[in-house]
Amino acid sequence: MKKTSLFLGLSSLLLLSAPSYAASVNDLLNSNGCFACHSVDTKMVGPSFKMVADKYRGQKDADMMLAKKIIAGGNGHWDDVTGGVMMPPHPGMSMEQAQSIAKWVLSTK
Ligand code: HEC
Repeated sequence: MKKTSLFLGLSSLLLLSAPSYAASVNDLLNSNGCFACHSVDTKMVGPSFKMVADKYRGQKDADMMLAKKIIAGGNGHWDDVTGGVMMPPHPGMSMEQAQSIAKWVLSTK
């Protein structure tokens, strides 16, 4: 009991002192509007994150490659799924943030 409240106390201190590190992948996806076009397991405007994971699973440096695409946007890789819609760029996102999203996307099954 005591240990739990100590842990919770420390966690909230950390959250307050380092908000940028505390932002979870889910927060990033929500605040950047990714779910307007993607879902984990259903194709929407863009491919589902599971489809993306299936396509690149096991590929070397796939997280870096996808992180760059999340920031720069792109098209032409999913035309059979999307009918040729573009993935918009997210220039405000850091490479670190984009890579943590990319790693998570690649881990969806
Ligand atoms: C306006 C709709 C839209 C939004 C918003 C959007 N995407 Fe996409 N996304 C797409 C489309 C369309 C594609 C397919 C592009 C293609 O054919 O290469 C795509 C592709 C992708 C891919 C696969 C890239 C590839 O080359 O295989 C990833 C990963 C991805 N999106 C992640 C994200 C993330 C993370 C966000 C939020 C930061 C986001 N998307 C926001 C429409 C969107």
